[in-house]
Amino acid sequence: MAFYSCCYPFLILFLVATSSFVVAFGNLYKDVDVTWGDGRAKFLNDGKILTLSLDKASGSGFQSKNEYLYGMFDMQLKLVPNNSAGTVTAYYLKSQGSSWDEIDFEFLGNLSGDPYIVHTNVYTQGKGDREQQFYLWFDPTADFHTYSILWNPSHIVFYVDGRPIREFKNVEPFGVPYPKNQTMRMYSSLWNADDWATRGGLVKTDWSQAPFTASFRNFNANACTWSNGASSCSSSNNNKPWFSQELDSTSQKKLKWVQNNYMVYDYCSDTNRFPQGRPVECTVRTNN
Ligand SMILES: *[C@@H]1O[C@H](CO)[C@@H](O)[C@H](O)[C@H]1NC(C)=O
Ligand SMILES: *[C@@H]1O[C@H](CO)[C@@H](O)[C@H](O)[C@H]1NC(C)=O
Ligand SMILES: *[C@@H]1O[C@H](CO)[C@@H](O)[C@H](O)[C@H]1NC(C)=O
Repeated sequence: MAFYSCCYPFLILFLVATSSFVVAFGNLYKDVDVTWGDGRAKFLNDGKILTLSLDKASGSGFQSKNEYLYGMFDMQLKLVPNNSAGTVTAYYLKSQGSSWDEIDFEFLGNLSGDPYIVHTNVYTQGKGDREQQFYLWFDPTADFHTYSILWNPSHIVFYVDGRPIREFKNVEPFGVPYPKNQTMRMYSSLWNADDWATRGGLVKTDWSQAPFTASFRNFNANACTWSNGASSCSSSNNNKPWFSQELDSTSQKKLKWVQNNYMVYDYCSDTNRFPQGRPVECTVRTNN
């Protein structure tokens, strides 16, 4: 006991120094670059909070400094309050090129008191068309909530406040490409999409309410970062919990609860859209 209490601070230092995983927490100023919006993106409280705003002339956005290949990504967002119809707040991972991979959270605004839609999609090698949409079980404009993306070799999971809302499994053996060999960055933006976002484009942005503002904090990338063609994770390090994380039966139940009660749209059930048959990942049976 004496040994541990004397050396605990030292041990922690040692572990932090030798860890090959990057855990960035709490300072967006350090983790991201503002990439567009001409002053509409603002760091507050020494980088603890970043706000994006949108007016008639422009939206705004930022991206992570790091590139990643696998990780658990958390961000806390407080969405545009009141009349946010026509606005879209996006938080996603994306690689470069014409055969890109992408994992999307998009928050579709609405009139005051009407529900936001959380729109999700997964692109692999440039092909998306895998939308699932959800309502939320809370008001996402009243407080910050945590939206997470888990991306590991066996699946992609979207989480809201730690609750899984969607799982996209690696079913590569069945011929569905899986994101595994292109590094992605994290991006966020606030923009106008009133041609489709709210009630399919029926409700337009009310510019008299501008500027619209969304807030971000506590970005946490527990991830393998890449630089100069090398990963921060060596193969022996791939025993981090998130790297092999699967949905246990409790998580499966939580996922079912969201899908039964809050799902608005599921491409896998949209038979009219796929007259030639549903996408392969919607039909294959896997272990869980
Ligand atoms: C929302 O709208 C109400 C009434 O118009 C206003 O008093 C309030 O300040 C608005 N809230 C925000 C966060 O803009
Ligand atoms: C990634 O894998 C796909 C198919 O497995 C291949 O077409 C593509 O060229 C690969 N890209 C890189 C950068 O290795
Ligand atoms: C907005 O509210 C309407 C009416 O409740 C609802 O049908 C729609 O799904 C909501 N969300 C969006 C993004 O359109």
